[in-house]
Amino acid sequence: MTKYITLCTIAVFVCCGVSAQNKKQAALQLKINGIIKKMTLEEKIDMLHGNALFSSGGVKRLSIPELTSDDGPLGVREEIKRFDWNSANWTTDSATFLPNGAAIAATWNPDMANRYGVVLGEEANARKKVVMLSPAFNICRMPLCGRTYEYYSEDPYLNAQLAIQSVKGIQSQHVAACVKHFAANNQEVGRDSVNAIIDQRALREIYLPAFKAAIQQGNAYSIMSAYNKVNGYWCSENDFLLNKILKKEWGFKGVVMSDWGGTHHTVAAANNGLDIEMGSSGTYDQWYFAKPLLAAVKSGQVSEKTIDDKVRRILWVMYHTSMSENHPAGSIATPAHSKAAYDIASESIVLLKNDAGLLPLKNNIKSIAVIGDNATRTFALGGYGAGVKVKYEVTALAGIRAKFGKTAEIKFAQGYKANYLANKKENADYNKPDQAMIDEAVALAKTTDVAILCVGSNREYESEGHDRKNLDLPFGEQALINAVTAVNPNTVIVIMAGAPYDLSEIKRSAHTIVWSWFNGSEAGNALANVLKGVVNPSGKLPFTFPVSLQDSPAFALDTYPGDGRTAEYKEGILVGYRWYDTKKIDPLYCFGYGLSYTNFGYSALKTDKKNYKPGDKIKVSVSIKNKGNVAGKEVLQLYVSKVNPTVLRADKELKAFKKILIAPTKTIAVNINVNINDLAYFNDKQSKWVIEPGEYKIMAASSSKDIRQVTSFFIQK
Ligand code: BGC
Repeated sequence: MTKYITLCTIAVFVCCGVSAQNKKQAALQLKINGIIKKMTLEEKIDMLHGNALFSSGGVKRLSIPELTSDDGPLGVREEIKRFDWNSANWTTDSATFLPNGAAIAATWNPDMANRYGVVLGEEANARKKVVMLSPAFNICRMPLCGRTYEYYSEDPYLNAQLAIQSVKGIQSQHVAACVKHFAANNQEVGRDSVNAIIDQRALREIYLPAFKAAIQQGNAYSIMSAYNKVNGYWCSENDFLLNKILKKEWGFKGVVMSDWGGTHHTVAAANNGLDIEMGSSGTYDQWYFAKPLLAAVKSGQVSEKTIDDKVRRILWVMYHTSMSENHPAGSIATPAHSKAAYDIASESIVLLKNDAGLLPLKNNIKSIAVIGDNATRTFALGGYGAGVKVKYEVTALAGIRAKFGKTAEIKFAQGYKANYLANKKENADYNKPDQAMIDEAVALAKTTDVAILCVGSNREYESEGHDRKNLDLPFGEQALINAVTAVNPNTVIVIMAGAPYDLSEIKRSAHTIVWSWFNGSEAGNALANVLKGVVNPSGKLPFTFPVSLQDSPAFALDTYPGDGRTAEYKEGILVGYRWYDTKKIDPLYCFGYGLSYTNFGYSALKTDKKNYKPGDKIKVSVSIKNKGNVAGKEVLQLYVSKVNPTVLRADKELKAFKKILIAPTKTIAVNINVNINDLAYFNDKQSKWVIEPGEYKIMAASSSKDIRQVTSFFIQK
């Protein structure tokens, strides 16, 4: 009988002339089914849980290898011992440190996300890792979240476009991306216990789109369930998220892996969609998905069909990765990887203020004071989160020396002490300025043509496992900044950090502010080239910097961190700029903001038609002129807004963007499409997407607050 069905399946595929790809997939499923038939229940269950810190079991008898994994996202983590977190002391695992997630997002360039992915995939192969626990792109709901630096953005569309390309890049190397953390891991305080209460509309419009895109358009082979609960259920046993949405609605064929130690039950997790349990504690054969799962199958609480489905998914991932044909050998820390890290970093740096025209620095500068702990600090490691054992990391001071050292004298003063450790219970005095260090910095800054102040945070201060307490710049930096800017009128303030900070005082008093990130192996070179003008800055903020914490939705509505058990996302869809714009609250720096050494003029915004139907594509065109005398990259941002909506809508939403290089004085006609279906809102009551007919405004913008051209169109019923 089975043979008959098999033949018929093949016949149907042949007769219908389905694509070669479909035939290949059907043949693969047959092969996988054949393997599963040969497996004992015990062997199947061995594949469903960790057998070491970063691998789950294989079946030697059938030549099925272990499924090895590694962190991500900053690069491939160093080899640790099989059963503990200590270094394995390898000499061949020095890797490329790639810019953090928010830096990638600040490039607003999906090609950069793709290149990031390719590097990660190649380095994973060199290390024989099958699953990269990356990219991470939970929505930046709340500015204090300790993992904001790892994540991308507050906007679901920007998130999605980058996630798709990161996944494609990683998987182009036959390595599985594991997109994380599904879903709504938006705060670190209480992450192991908090129940995020989110309405359907906010889930669908804000928190899920990038995951959906990574699965459906990026074809991600695996996904990590988050630590927290969503609407009452742990993410690792959330039938709604894992079975109904991910596997059924989105057609996900790959593997759901728990976050490390994020599994809570055997039967609920097995039946509600988890495929592999990772990172639990205790002896491996006692984990939820080990002997207890075997017992649950024997007692009929979990069916063998469910187990087979999980094994099928794992084998499917293996056949696309470790067991794939022509599997690439990979390479690690190559010059090409450095170039990718450099290019991403160069495009991620955001010029926040340049009022005195101090940047780019002039060639006649004879002396530079480089001041600040961050000038000599490296960011590849630190805090709780996964880091990278780097082959090298160019600090800001090293980059500045390399770029300016031939023509200017470069001197350094530390300026402040970064007395903060993520794993210390109390970091009592970390905010106290060090007067002696400030005096030294001031004395130095008085003597030089230019002062470059490298401040911000670091990987201890922003870390997985905890949230920041406030938006203040730490380590007494403000006192240092005030003192140095008072004595040197040519001070450039460089902030290196991964999340929003309160820069109000600096914005008021300083004329030159540059935002950099935890920007990878080539950070210092990229920064120095921006300061020199070799690179014209083109980064744009991927999240809003609020004037005060109280302005931000989670704080305004008193929903953070919740009562320790629940965090009610009362702001619904009004996350990030959707909140500030709709509530008419001016931010300090808005979403999408970033200056250039040139400036751009917008004209002739047009849509190809005035009236559209659901399913249509709006062909938008707009002309952008580089009005200056240096080449520059502009990020065209298209926002759409419903006129007189019948339901609550955000003031505007990003629906398309494009980064374009424009030569000096030249004009480029940019064509960009917006899908009408992407303008739908999720109707909670009807539990479906609805495209509201009527008038819409479309805005071509240089940031979410800098709207340059507006036109309107209509959607017909
Ligand atoms: C993090 C994950 C990470 C895992 C393994 C967890 O604490 O939340 O992002 O992949 O550890 O290191």
